[in-house]
Amino acid sequence: MKTHLKFSVFLIILLCGQMAHSAAIIEGQRMVPAQSKDGMVVTSHFLATESALEVLEKGGNAIDAAVTAAFSLAVTQPRSGNIGGGGFMLISSEQKDEVAAIDYREKAPAAASRDMFLDEQGNAVSDRSRYSHLASGVPGTVAGLALALEKFGTISLKEAMAPAIKLAEKGFIVTPRFSNGLKKKEKMLKKWDSSKKIFYKPDGSYYEPGDLFVQPELAETLKRISKNGIKEFYQGKTAELLVAEMKKHGGLITMEDMKNYQPVIREPVHGNYRGYDIYSMSPPSSGGTHVVQILNILEGYPVSEYGHNSAKTIHLMAEAMKRAYADRSHYLGDSDFVKIPLKGITSKKYAAALRQQIDPEKAKPSKDIVPGKPQPYESNETTHFSVVDKWGNAVSNTYTINFSYGSGIVVEGAGFLLNNEMDDFSAKPGVPNAYGLLGGEANKIEPDKRMLSSMSPTIVKKDGKNFLVTGSPGGSRIITTTLQVIMNVIDHGLNIKSAVSAPRVHHQWLPDEIRIEEGISPDTINMLEEMGHTVKQKSSMGAIQSIMIKDGIMYGGADPRRSTSLAAGL
Ligand code: DON
Repeated sequence: MKTHLKFSVFLIILLCGQMAHSAAIIEGQRMVPAQSKDGMVVTSHFLATESALEVLEKGGNAIDAAVTAAFSLAVTQPRSGNIGGGGFMLISSEQKDEVAAIDYREKAPAAASRDMFLDEQGNAVSDRSRYSHLASGVPGTVAGLALALEKFGTISLKEAMAPAIKLAEKGFIVTPRFSNGLKKKEKMLKKWDSSKKIFYKPDGSYYEPGDLFVQPELAETLKRISKNGIKEFYQGKTAELLVAEMKKHGGLITMEDMKNYQPVIREPVHGNYRGYDIYSMSPPSSGGTHVVQILNILEGYPVSEYGHNSAKTIHLMAEAMKRAYADRSHYLGDSDFVKIPLKGITSKKYAAALRQQIDPEKAKPSKDIVPGKPQPYESNETTHFSVVDKWGNAVSNTYTINFSYGSGIVVEGAGFLLNNEMDDFSAKPGVPNAYGLLGGEANKIEPDKRMLSSMSPTIVKKDGKNFLVTGSPGGSRIITTTLQVIMNVIDHGLNIKSAVSAPRVHHQWLPDEIRIEEGISPDTINMLEEMGHTVKQKSSMGAIQSIMIKDGIMYGGADPRRSTSLAAGL
Protein backbone atom coordinates (compact mmCIF):
# COMPACT_ATOMS: atom_id res chain seq x y z
CA MET A 1 0.00 0.00 0.00
CA LYS A 2 1.21 3.44 -0.81
CA THR A 3 2.77 5.23 2.15
CA HIS A 4 0.61 8.33 1.76
CA LEU A 5 -2.57 6.26 1.84
CA LYS A 6 -1.29 4.38 4.90
CA PHE A 7 -0.54 7.67 6.62
CA SER A 8 -3.92 9.17 5.89
CA VAL A 9 -5.72 6.03 7.12
CA PHE A 10 -3.64 6.14 10.33
CA LEU A 11 -4.54 9.80 10.73
CA ILE A 12 -8.23 9.10 10.24
CA ILE A 13 -8.14 6.52 13.00
CA LEU A 14 -6.32 8.91 15.28
CA LEU A 15 -8.76 11.66 14.44
CA CYS A 16 -11.89 9.65 14.78
CA GLY A 17 -10.86 7.46 17.72
CA GLN A 18 -13.68 4.98 18.16
CA MET A 19 -15.36 6.15 14.97
CA ALA A 20 -12.86 5.48 12.21
CA HIS A 21 -15.22 5.80 9.34
CA SER A 22 -15.03 9.11 7.59
CA ALA A 23 -12.85 11.04 5.23
CA ALA A 24 -9.95 13.21 6.25
CA ILE A 25 -8.78 15.98 3.98
CA ILE A 26 -5.11 16.54 4.58
CA GLU A 27 -3.22 18.92 2.41
CA GLY A 28 -0.92 17.05 0.07
CA GLN A 29 -2.39 13.68 1.06
CA ARG A 30 -4.77 11.51 -0.80
CA MET A 31 -8.29 11.50 0.55
CA VAL A 32 -9.85 8.26 1.70
CA PRO A 33 -13.40 9.39 1.16
CA ALA A 34 -16.46 7.67 2.52
CA GLN A 35 -18.29 8.70 -0.62
CA SER A 36 -17.38 7.95 -4.18
CA LYS A 37 -18.59 7.36 -7.72
CA ASP A 38 -16.04 4.70 -8.56
CA GLY A 39 -16.10 2.05 -5.85
CA MET A 40 -16.57 1.65 -2.12
CA VAL A 41 -15.44 -0.88 0.50
CA VAL A 42 -16.71 -1.08 4.07
CA THR A 43 -15.25 -3.69 6.47
CA SER A 44 -14.65 -4.03 10.18
CA HIS A 45 -10.86 -3.73 9.75
CA PHE A 46 -9.13 -0.82 8.03
CA LEU A 47 -6.35 -3.06 6.67
CA ALA A 48 -8.90 -5.26 4.93
CA THR A 49 -10.67 -2.18 3.57
CA GLU A 50 -7.36 -0.90 2.19
CA SER A 51 -6.40 -4.23 0.59
CA ALA A 52 -9.77 -4.48 -1.12
CA LEU A 53 -9.71 -0.84 -2.21
CA GLU A 54 -6.40 -1.43 -3.93
CA VAL A 55 -7.93 -4.26 -5.91
CA LEU A 56 -10.66 -1.88 -7.13
CA GLU A 57 -8.03 0.73 -7.87
CA LYS A 58 -6.18 -1.70 -10.12
CA GLY A 59 -9.37 -2.37 -12.11
CA GLY A 60 -10.71 -5.42 -10.26
CA ASN A 61 -14.45 -5.73 -9.71
CA ALA A 62 -16.44 -5.85 -6.45
CA ILE A 63 -16.20 -9.63 -6.24
CA ASP A 64 -12.39 -9.57 -6.61
CA ALA A 65 -12.20 -6.91 -3.90
CA ALA A 66 -14.58 -8.84 -1.64
CA VAL A 67 -12.50 -12.02 -1.84
CA THR A 68 -9.37 -10.00 -1.02
CA ALA A 69 -11.19 -8.41 1.93
CA ALA A 70 -12.25 -11.84 3.21
CA PHE A 71 -8.72 -13.31 3.12
CA SER A 72 -7.28 -10.11 4.65
CA LEU A 73 -9.79 -10.24 7.50
CA ALA A 74 -8.77 -13.87 8.12
CA VAL A 75 -5.33 -12.48 8.97
CA THR A 76 -6.05 -9.12 10.61
CA GLN A 77 -9.17 -10.07 12.57
CA PRO A 78 -8.78 -13.72 13.65
CA ARG A 79 -11.68 -13.42 16.08
CA SER A 80 -14.08 -13.58 13.14
CA GLY A 81 -12.31 -13.25 9.83
CA ASN A 82 -11.55 -16.81 8.88
CA ILE A 83 -10.63 -19.68 6.68
CA GLY A 84 -11.77 -22.17 9.35
CA GLY A 85 -15.45 -21.19 9.22
CA GLY A 86 -18.15 -20.42 6.69
CA GLY A 87 -20.65 -17.85 5.53
CA PHE A 88 -22.85 -16.41 2.86
CA MET A 89 -22.23 -14.01 0.00
CA LEU A 90 -24.83 -12.13 -2.02
CA ILE A 91 -23.73 -10.80 -5.36
CA SER A 92 -25.83 -8.37 -7.38
CA SER A 93 -25.12 -7.55 -10.98
CA GLU A 94 -27.12 -4.61 -12.34
CA GLN A 95 -25.98 -5.43 -15.85
CA LYS A 96 -27.36 -8.95 -15.72
CA ASP A 97 -30.24 -7.91 -13.47
CA GLU A 98 -29.38 -10.89 -11.25
CA VAL A 99 -28.75 -11.46 -7.58
CA ALA A 100 -26.96 -14.71 -6.67
CA ALA A 101 -26.43 -16.14 -3.21
CA ILE A 102 -23.36 -18.26 -2.43
CA ASP A 103 -23.90 -20.60 0.49
CA TYR A 104 -20.55 -21.61 1.97
CA ARG A 105 -21.92 -22.50 5.37
CA GLU A 106 -20.09 -25.25 7.31
CA LYS A 107 -21.54 -28.77 7.24
CA ALA A 108 -21.86 -31.40 9.94
CA PRO A 109 -19.27 -34.15 9.44
CA ALA A 110 -20.61 -37.51 8.17
CA ALA A 111 -20.14 -39.08 11.61
CA ALA A 112 -22.28 -36.40 13.34
CA SER A 113 -25.50 -37.58 14.99
CA ARG A 114 -28.58 -36.06 16.53
CA ASP A 115 -27.66 -36.73 20.16
CA MET A 116 -23.93 -36.12 19.93
CA PHE A 117 -24.04 -33.25 22.42
CA LEU A 118 -26.17 -35.06 25.04
CA ASP A 119 -24.79 -36.79 28.11
CA GLU A 120 -25.96 -40.17 29.46
CA GLN A 121 -28.91 -38.48 31.17
CA GLY A 122 -29.96 -36.84 27.92
CA ASN A 123 -28.86 -33.34 28.96
CA ALA A 124 -27.24 -31.04 26.42
CA VAL A 125 -23.56 -30.41 27.25
CA SER A 126 -22.79 -26.98 25.88
CA ASP A 127 -19.00 -27.24 26.37
CA ARG A 128 -18.95 -30.04 23.81
CA SER A 129 -20.82 -28.08 21.16
CA ARG A 130 -18.84 -24.88 21.85
CA TYR A 131 -15.29 -25.54 23.03
CA SER A 132 -14.26 -28.98 21.81
CA HIS A 133 -13.13 -30.49 18.52
CA LEU A 134 -16.68 -31.81 18.14
CA ALA A 135 -17.85 -28.21 17.87
CA SER A 136 -16.49 -27.69 14.37
CA GLY A 137 -18.35 -28.08 11.15
CA VAL A 138 -16.47 -28.76 7.93
CA PRO A 139 -15.20 -25.29 6.92
CA GLY A 140 -16.64 -23.70 3.78
CA THR A 141 -14.89 -20.33 3.50
CA VAL A 142 -12.05 -21.23 1.14
CA ALA A 143 -14.34 -23.08 -1.27
CA GLY A 144 -16.97 -20.31 -1.15
CA LEU A 145 -14.52 -17.51 -1.86
CA ALA A 146 -12.90 -19.46 -4.69
CA LEU A 147 -16.31 -20.13 -6.22
CA ALA A 148 -17.24 -16.45 -6.04
CA LEU A 149 -14.02 -15.55 -7.82
CA GLU A 150 -14.36 -18.23 -10.45
CA LYS A 151 -17.98 -17.44 -11.35
CA PHE A 152 -18.13 -13.68 -10.84
CA GLY A 153 -14.58 -12.35 -10.45
CA THR A 154 -11.88 -11.28 -12.87
CA ILE A 155 -8.62 -11.96 -10.98
CA SER A 156 -6.91 -15.21 -9.94
CA LEU A 157 -7.04 -16.70 -6.45
CA LYS A 158 -3.32 -15.97 -6.23
CA GLU A 159 -3.86 -12.28 -6.93
CA ALA A 160 -6.81 -12.08 -4.54
CA MET A 161 -4.81 -13.72 -1.71
CA ALA A 162 -1.56 -11.80 -2.14
CA PRO A 163 -2.39 -8.93 0.28
CA ALA A 164 -3.44 -11.41 3.00
CA ILE A 165 -0.25 -13.41 2.62
CA LYS A 166 1.77 -10.23 2.98
CA LEU A 167 -0.15 -9.21 6.11
CA ALA A 168 0.41 -12.66 7.67
CA GLU A 169 4.08 -12.86 6.70
CA LYS A 170 5.22 -9.31 7.37
CA GLY A 171 2.73 -8.73 10.17
CA PHE A 172 0.71 -5.69 11.17
CA ILE A 173 0.56 -3.33 14.10
CA VAL A 174 -1.66 -4.46 16.97
CA THR A 175 -4.63 -2.18 17.68
CA PRO A 176 -6.25 -1.75 21.12
CA ARG A 177 -9.23 -3.81 19.95
CA PHE A 178 -7.00 -6.69 18.83
CA SER A 179 -5.04 -6.66 22.08
CA ASN A 180 -8.15 -6.40 24.29
CA GLY A 181 -9.89 -9.24 22.46
CA LEU A 182 -7.04 -11.64 23.17
CA LYS A 183 -6.76 -10.55 26.80
CA LYS A 184 -10.45 -11.19 27.30
CA LYS A 185 -10.32 -14.68 25.78
CA GLU A 186 -7.04 -15.76 27.41
CA LYS A 187 -8.54 -18.70 29.29
CA MET A 188 -10.22 -20.17 26.25
CA LEU A 189 -7.27 -19.71 23.91
CA LYS A 190 -4.47 -20.76 26.27
CA LYS A 191 -6.17 -24.11 26.83
CA TRP A 192 -4.70 -25.26 23.51
CA ASP A 193 -0.92 -25.11 22.87
CA SER A 194 -1.54 -24.58 19.16
CA SER A 195 -3.60 -21.45 19.94
CA LYS A 196 -1.43 -20.20 22.79
CA LYS A 197 1.69 -20.05 20.66
CA ILE A 198 -0.07 -18.04 17.97
CA PHE A 199 -1.92 -15.48 20.08
CA TYR A 200 0.48 -14.86 22.99
CA LYS A 201 4.19 -14.13 23.15
CA PRO A 202 6.59 -17.03 23.87
CA ASP A 203 6.65 -16.09 27.59
CA GLY A 204 2.83 -16.09 27.62
CA SER A 205 2.53 -12.32 27.82
CA TYR A 206 0.13 -10.24 25.75
CA TYR A 207 0.51 -8.50 22.45
CA GLU A 208 0.03 -4.82 23.29
CA PRO A 209 -1.10 -1.97 21.03
CA GLY A 210 1.80 -0.94 18.85
CA ASP A 211 3.42 -4.41 18.78
CA LEU A 212 3.98 -6.18 15.47
CA PHE A 213 1.87 -9.33 15.06
CA VAL A 214 3.25 -11.88 12.58
CA GLN A 215 1.64 -15.25 11.69
CA PRO A 216 4.18 -17.47 9.91
CA GLU A 217 2.12 -20.67 10.08
CA LEU A 218 -0.94 -18.98 8.65
CA ALA A 219 1.22 -17.35 5.98
CA GLU A 220 2.46 -20.81 4.91
CA THR A 221 -1.09 -22.17 4.80
CA LEU A 222 -2.27 -19.25 2.70
CA LYS A 223 0.72 -19.62 0.38
CA ARG A 224 -0.04 -23.28 -0.17
CA ILE A 225 -3.67 -22.46 -1.02
CA SER A 226 -2.58 -19.63 -3.27
CA LYS A 227 -0.19 -21.93 -5.12
CA ASN A 228 -2.30 -25.10 -5.37
CA GLY A 229 -5.88 -23.78 -5.19
CA ILE A 230 -8.75 -25.04 -3.03
CA LYS A 231 -7.62 -28.65 -3.47
CA GLU A 232 -4.84 -27.81 -1.02
CA PHE A 233 -7.33 -26.83 1.67
CA TYR A 234 -9.70 -29.72 1.11
CA GLN A 235 -7.37 -32.55 0.06
CA GLY A 236 -3.78 -31.37 0.56
CA LYS A 237 -1.49 -30.70 3.53
CA THR A 238 -3.94 -28.26 5.16
CA ALA A 239 -6.68 -30.91 5.15
CA GLU A 240 -4.20 -33.43 6.58
CA LEU A 241 -3.24 -31.04 9.39
CA LEU A 242 -6.90 -30.36 10.19
CA VAL A 243 -7.79 -34.06 10.22
CA ALA A 244 -4.72 -34.89 12.36
CA GLU A 245 -5.92 -32.22 14.83
CA MET A 246 -9.33 -33.90 14.89
CA LYS A 247 -7.89 -37.40 15.38
CA LYS A 248 -5.65 -36.27 18.22
CA HIS A 249 -8.51 -34.69 20.17
CA GLY A 250 -11.58 -36.81 19.37
CA GLY A 251 -13.05 -34.61 16.61
CA LEU A 252 -15.12 -36.05 13.78
CA ILE A 253 -13.95 -34.36 10.57
CA THR A 254 -12.29 -36.81 8.17
CA MET A 255 -10.41 -36.43 4.88
CA GLU A 256 -13.56 -37.66 3.19
CA ASP A 257 -15.63 -34.86 4.80
CA MET A 258 -13.10 -32.31 3.60
CA LYS A 259 -13.02 -33.69 0.08
CA ASN A 260 -16.81 -33.79 -0.14
CA TYR A 261 -17.40 -30.18 0.92
CA GLN A 262 -19.13 -28.15 -1.77
CA PRO A 263 -20.47 -24.59 -1.64
CA VAL A 264 -23.85 -24.01 -3.31
CA ILE A 265 -25.21 -21.18 -5.41
CA ARG A 266 -28.78 -20.55 -4.24
CA GLU A 267 -31.69 -18.28 -5.05
CA PRO A 268 -31.76 -15.47 -2.53
CA VAL A 269 -34.97 -14.69 -0.66
CA HIS A 270 -36.75 -11.89 -2.49
CA GLY A 271 -39.29 -9.53 -0.95
CA ASN A 272 -40.67 -6.10 -1.57
CA TYR A 273 -40.92 -3.27 0.98
CA ARG A 274 -42.56 0.02 0.13
CA GLY A 275 -41.44 -0.19 -3.49
CA TYR A 276 -37.90 -1.45 -2.78
CA ASP A 277 -36.71 -4.94 -3.74
CA ILE A 278 -35.15 -6.77 -0.83
CA TYR A 279 -32.72 -9.61 -1.58
CA SER A 280 -31.32 -11.52 1.36
CA MET A 281 -29.94 -14.90 2.36
CA SER A 282 -32.07 -17.99 1.92
CA PRO A 283 -31.85 -21.19 4.01
CA PRO A 284 -29.72 -22.63 5.54
CA SER A 285 -29.78 -19.10 6.92
CA SER A 286 -32.98 -17.92 8.53
CA GLY A 287 -31.79 -14.33 8.02
CA GLY A 288 -33.38 -13.32 4.73
CA THR A 289 -36.62 -15.16 5.43
CA HIS A 290 -37.26 -13.26 8.64
CA VAL A 291 -35.96 -9.88 7.48
CA VAL A 292 -38.56 -10.08 4.70
CA GLN A 293 -41.26 -11.47 7.02
CA ILE A 294 -40.83 -8.69 9.59
CA LEU A 295 -40.75 -6.00 6.89
CA ASN A 296 -43.96 -7.44 5.44
CA ILE A 297 -45.71 -7.18 8.79
CA LEU A 298 -44.45 -3.63 9.40
CA GLU A 299 -45.40 -2.45 5.91
CA GLY A 300 -49.00 -2.29 7.14
CA TYR A 301 -48.20 0.51 9.59
CA PRO A 302 -47.19 4.12 8.92
CA VAL A 303 -43.95 3.72 10.89
CA SER A 304 -42.36 6.85 9.42
CA GLU A 305 -45.28 8.81 10.86
CA TYR A 306 -44.90 7.06 14.22
CA GLY A 307 -41.23 8.11 14.21
CA HIS A 308 -37.79 6.55 14.56
CA ASN A 309 -37.38 4.66 17.84
CA SER A 310 -40.65 6.03 19.24
CA ALA A 311 -42.44 3.76 21.72
CA LYS A 312 -45.17 3.05 19.17
CA THR A 313 -42.69 2.04 16.47
CA ILE A 314 -40.57 -0.09 18.83
CA HIS A 315 -43.71 -1.80 20.12
CA LEU A 316 -44.83 -2.79 16.61
CA MET A 317 -41.32 -3.90 15.68
CA ALA A 318 -41.05 -6.05 18.82
CA GLU A 319 -44.44 -7.66 18.19
CA ALA A 320 -43.49 -8.45 14.58
CA MET A 321 -40.07 -9.79 15.66
CA LYS A 322 -41.63 -12.15 18.24
CA ARG A 323 -43.81 -13.79 15.60
CA ALA A 324 -40.88 -14.20 13.21
CA TYR A 325 -38.56 -15.78 15.81
CA ALA A 326 -41.35 -18.13 16.93
CA ASP A 327 -41.68 -19.31 13.32
CA ARG A 328 -37.90 -19.60 13.03
CA SER A 329 -37.80 -22.02 15.96
CA HIS A 330 -40.25 -24.34 14.27
CA TYR A 331 -39.84 -24.16 10.53
CA LEU A 332 -36.25 -23.22 9.70
CA GLY A 333 -33.35 -25.54 8.98
CA ASP A 334 -31.21 -26.67 6.04
CA SER A 335 -33.52 -26.72 3.01
CA ASP A 336 -31.50 -29.61 1.56
CA PHE A 337 -32.84 -31.69 4.46
CA VAL A 338 -36.18 -30.21 5.50
CA LYS A 339 -39.10 -28.65 3.70
CA ILE A 340 -39.48 -25.01 4.65
CA PRO A 341 -42.66 -23.10 3.85
CA LEU A 342 -40.55 -20.20 2.59
CA LYS A 343 -43.09 -18.68 0.22
CA GLY A 344 -45.74 -18.89 2.94
CA ILE A 345 -43.61 -17.27 5.63
CA THR A 346 -42.54 -14.45 3.32
CA SER A 347 -45.97 -13.80 1.79
CA LYS A 348 -47.89 -10.56 2.24
CA LYS A 349 -51.02 -12.60 3.04
CA TYR A 350 -49.39 -14.34 6.01
CA ALA A 351 -47.99 -11.00 7.18
CA ALA A 352 -51.51 -9.57 7.11
CA ALA A 353 -52.77 -12.52 9.19
CA LEU A 354 -49.98 -11.99 11.75
CA ARG A 355 -50.73 -8.26 11.82
CA GLN A 356 -54.30 -9.11 12.84
CA GLN A 357 -52.90 -10.69 16.02
CA ILE A 358 -50.97 -7.55 16.99
CA ASP A 359 -52.59 -5.18 19.47
CA PRO A 360 -51.26 -1.71 18.63
CA GLU A 361 -51.37 -0.70 22.28
CA LYS A 362 -50.47 -3.84 24.21
CA ALA A 363 -47.65 -6.39 24.23
CA LYS A 364 -48.63 -10.04 23.88
CA PRO A 365 -46.56 -12.20 26.22
CA SER A 366 -44.26 -14.57 24.31
CA LYS A 367 -45.66 -17.56 26.22
CA ASP A 368 -48.97 -16.93 24.45
CA ILE A 369 -47.32 -16.83 21.02
CA VAL A 370 -46.70 -20.05 19.17
CA PRO A 371 -45.25 -20.58 15.69
CA GLY A 372 -47.87 -19.48 13.14
CA LYS A 373 -49.45 -21.32 10.25
CA PRO A 374 -48.08 -20.02 6.95
CA GLN A 375 -49.21 -21.56 3.66
CA PRO A 376 -47.57 -24.97 3.56
CA TYR A 377 -44.86 -25.79 1.05
CA GLU A 378 -45.92 -25.72 -2.59
CA SER A 379 -45.35 -29.06 -3.72
CA ASN A 380 -29.49 -19.46 11.48
CA GLU A 381 -18.41 -13.44 16.28
CA THR A 382 -18.93 -12.96 12.76
CA THR A 383 -18.00 -10.15 10.43
CA HIS A 384 -19.72 -8.47 7.55
CA PHE A 385 -18.39 -6.42 4.67
CA SER A 386 -19.92 -4.65 1.71
CA VAL A 387 -18.29 -3.74 -1.59
CA VAL A 388 -19.56 -1.98 -4.72
CA ASP A 389 -17.84 -1.14 -7.97
CA LYS A 390 -18.45 1.25 -10.84
CA TRP A 391 -19.90 -1.46 -13.05
CA GLY A 392 -23.02 -2.00 -10.99
CA ASN A 393 -21.75 -5.02 -9.04
CA ALA A 394 -22.43 -5.22 -5.34
CA VAL A 395 -21.22 -7.80 -2.79
CA SER A 396 -22.74 -8.32 0.63
CA ASN A 397 -20.80 -10.92 2.63
CA THR A 398 -21.19 -12.22 6.18
CA TYR A 399 -18.88 -15.01 7.39
CA THR A 400 -18.08 -16.46 10.77
CA ILE A 401 -16.43 -19.01 13.03
CA ASN A 402 -19.44 -18.46 15.36
CA PHE A 403 -18.07 -17.15 18.72
CA SER A 404 -15.24 -14.64 18.94
CA TYR A 405 -12.25 -16.88 18.10
CA GLY A 406 -14.67 -19.75 17.32
CA SER A 407 -13.90 -22.89 19.33
CA GLY A 408 -10.60 -21.30 20.46
CA ILE A 409 -8.76 -24.17 18.77
CA VAL A 410 -6.02 -23.45 16.23
CA VAL A 411 -5.16 -26.28 13.84
CA GLU A 412 -1.66 -27.29 14.91
CA GLY A 413 0.78 -26.38 12.16
CA ALA A 414 -1.78 -24.55 10.02
CA GLY A 415 -2.21 -21.40 12.10
CA PHE A 416 -5.96 -20.85 11.79
CA LEU A 417 -8.86 -21.13 14.22
CA LEU A 418 -11.63 -23.69 13.91
CA ASN A 419 -15.27 -22.73 14.06
CA ASN A 420 -17.75 -23.89 16.71
CA GLU A 421 -20.68 -23.70 14.38
CA MET A 422 -22.11 -27.09 15.48
CA ASP A 423 -23.63 -25.11 18.40
CA ASP A 424 -26.00 -23.50 15.88
CA PHE A 425 -27.77 -26.84 15.53
CA SER A 426 -30.49 -27.61 17.99
CA ALA A 427 -28.71 -30.00 20.40
CA LYS A 428 -32.08 -30.89 21.91
CA PRO A 429 -35.56 -29.46 21.35
CA GLY A 430 -36.27 -26.74 23.90
CA VAL A 431 -32.60 -26.21 24.79
CA PRO A 432 -31.41 -22.83 23.53
CA ASN A 433 -28.13 -22.35 21.69
CA ALA A 434 -25.53 -19.76 22.76
CA TYR A 435 -27.74 -16.95 21.43
CA GLY A 436 -30.82 -18.14 23.32
CA LEU A 437 -32.37 -19.40 20.09
CA LEU A 438 -34.63 -22.41 20.22
CA GLY A 439 -34.93 -24.96 17.50
CA GLY A 440 -36.57 -28.27 16.87
CA GLU A 441 -36.74 -31.13 14.40
CA ALA A 442 -35.99 -28.93 11.40
CA ASN A 443 -32.61 -27.97 12.85
CA LYS A 444 -31.63 -31.26 14.48
CA ILE A 445 -28.10 -32.58 13.83
CA GLU A 446 -27.79 -34.87 10.81
CA PRO A 447 -24.74 -36.01 8.88
CA ASP A 448 -23.65 -33.56 6.14
CA LYS A 449 -26.37 -31.08 7.09
CA ARG A 450 -25.82 -27.34 7.39
CA MET A 451 -26.66 -25.80 10.77
CA LEU A 452 -29.25 -23.00 10.77
CA SER A 453 -27.83 -19.50 10.65
CA SER A 454 -29.12 -15.97 11.27
CA MET A 455 -26.66 -14.32 8.93
CA SER A 456 -28.47 -11.89 6.66
CA PRO A 457 -26.27 -10.39 3.96
CA THR A 458 -28.75 -8.15 2.11
CA ILE A 459 -28.91 -6.09 -1.05
CA VAL A 460 -31.82 -3.67 -1.56
CA LYS A 461 -32.56 -2.54 -5.09
CA LYS A 462 -34.71 0.31 -6.33
CA ASP A 463 -35.90 0.32 -9.93
CA GLY A 464 -33.31 -2.29 -10.88
CA LYS A 465 -30.39 -0.37 -9.35
CA ASN A 466 -28.39 -1.40 -6.30
CA PHE A 467 -29.49 0.93 -3.50
CA LEU A 468 -28.37 -0.50 -0.16
CA VAL A 469 -25.74 -3.17 0.61
CA THR A 470 -25.78 -4.24 4.22
CA GLY A 471 -25.39 -7.01 6.83
CA SER A 472 -24.02 -7.62 10.30
CA PRO A 473 -22.60 -10.01 12.89
CA GLY A 474 -24.42 -10.45 16.20
CA GLY A 475 -25.84 -13.99 16.44
CA SER A 476 -29.60 -13.88 16.87
CA ARG A 477 -29.48 -10.06 16.63
CA ILE A 478 -28.24 -10.13 13.03
CA ILE A 479 -31.75 -10.28 11.60
CA THR A 480 -33.10 -7.35 13.60
CA THR A 481 -29.92 -5.27 13.14
CA THR A 482 -30.17 -5.65 9.37
CA LEU A 483 -33.89 -4.93 9.48
CA GLN A 484 -33.35 -1.66 11.34
CA VAL A 485 -30.78 -0.30 8.91
CA ILE A 486 -33.21 -1.00 6.06
CA MET A 487 -36.04 0.73 7.97
CA ASN A 488 -33.82 3.62 9.09
CA VAL A 489 -33.08 4.39 5.46
CA ILE A 490 -36.43 3.63 3.81
CA ASP A 491 -38.89 4.64 6.53
CA HIS A 492 -37.02 7.29 8.44
CA GLY A 493 -34.86 8.85 5.72
CA LEU A 494 -31.64 8.58 7.73
CA ASN A 495 -28.35 8.89 5.86
CA ILE A 496 -26.25 5.75 5.90
CA LYS A 497 -23.93 6.78 8.74
CA SER A 498 -26.87 7.74 10.95
CA ALA A 499 -28.74 4.59 9.94
CA VAL A 500 -25.79 2.42 10.95
CA SER A 501 -25.04 4.31 14.18
CA ALA A 502 -28.60 4.74 15.54
CA PRO A 503 -29.44 2.84 18.75
CA ARG A 504 -30.99 -0.55 18.06
CA VAL A 505 -33.69 -2.69 19.63
CA HIS A 506 -34.24 -6.45 19.48
CA HIS A 507 -36.84 -9.02 20.40
CA GLN A 508 -36.40 -12.75 19.67
CA TRP A 509 -39.64 -14.12 21.14
CA LEU A 510 -37.80 -15.90 23.94
CA PRO A 511 -36.56 -14.52 26.26
CA ASP A 512 -39.63 -12.28 26.39
CA GLU A 513 -37.82 -8.95 26.52
CA ILE A 514 -37.02 -6.02 24.27
CA ARG A 515 -33.26 -5.76 24.34
CA ILE A 516 -32.12 -2.19 23.74
CA GLU A 517 -28.83 -0.41 23.27
CA GLU A 518 -27.85 2.74 25.12
CA GLY A 519 -29.60 5.74 23.58
CA ILE A 520 -33.31 4.90 23.82
CA SER A 521 -34.87 7.62 25.94
CA PRO A 522 -36.15 6.84 29.47
CA ASP A 523 -39.65 8.06 28.64
CA THR A 524 -39.79 5.74 25.61
CA ILE A 525 -38.77 2.87 27.88
CA ASN A 526 -41.51 3.84 30.35
CA MET A 527 -44.13 3.86 27.63
CA LEU A 528 -43.04 0.44 26.39
CA GLU A 529 -43.22 -0.93 29.92
CA GLU A 530 -46.73 0.48 30.28
CA MET A 531 -47.69 -1.45 27.15
CA GLY A 532 -46.58 -4.64 28.91
CA HIS A 533 -43.04 -5.03 27.59
CA THR A 534 -40.01 -5.95 29.63
CA VAL A 535 -37.17 -3.70 28.42
CA LYS A 536 -33.52 -4.51 29.13
CA GLN A 537 -30.55 -2.38 28.16
CA LYS A 538 -27.54 -4.56 27.35
CA SER A 539 -24.30 -4.26 25.39
CA SER A 540 -24.29 -3.03 21.80
CA MET A 541 -25.66 -5.25 19.06
CA GLY A 542 -24.07 -6.03 15.71
CA ALA A 543 -21.53 -4.23 13.54
CA ILE A 544 -23.29 -3.38 10.34
CA GLN A 545 -21.04 -2.38 7.46
CA SER A 546 -23.16 -0.72 4.81
CA ILE A 547 -23.14 1.15 1.53
CA MET A 548 -25.97 3.29 0.13
CA ILE A 549 -26.00 4.36 -3.51
CA LYS A 550 -28.01 7.44 -4.34
CA ASP A 551 -27.93 9.39 -7.59
CA GLY A 552 -24.83 7.49 -8.63
CA ILE A 553 -22.90 8.35 -5.47
CA MET A 554 -21.76 5.56 -3.13
CA TYR A 555 -21.94 6.46 0.55
CA GLY A 556 -20.12 4.25 3.05
CA GLY A 557 -21.44 3.63 6.57
CA ALA A 558 -18.95 1.79 8.81
CA ASP A 559 -20.29 0.78 12.20
CA PRO A 560 -18.77 2.84 15.05
CA ARG A 561 -19.47 -0.12 17.35
CA ARG A 562 -16.19 -1.62 16.01
CA SER A 563 -13.25 0.74 16.54
CA THR A 564 -11.32 -0.63 13.56
CA SER A 565 -14.15 -0.28 11.01
CA LEU A 566 -13.42 1.71 7.90
CA ALA A 567 -15.46 2.82 4.91
CA ALA A 568 -13.32 4.01 2.05
CA GLY A 569 -13.98 4.86 -1.57
CA LEU A 570 -11.81 5.35 -4.60
O1 DON B 1 -24.66 -18.25 11.86
C1 DON B 1 -25.06 -17.66 12.85
O2 DON B 1 -26.16 -17.19 12.94
C2 DON B 1 -24.11 -17.47 14.02
N1 DON B 1 -23.13 -18.53 14.04
C3 DON B 1 -23.47 -16.10 13.90
C4 DON B 1 -22.56 -15.81 15.06
C5 DON B 1 -22.30 -14.38 15.26
O3 DON B 1 -22.81 -13.53 14.57
C6 DON B 1 -21.40 -14.02 16.39
N2 DON B 1 -21.00 -12.62 16.27
N3 DON B 1 -21.19 -11.68 16.87
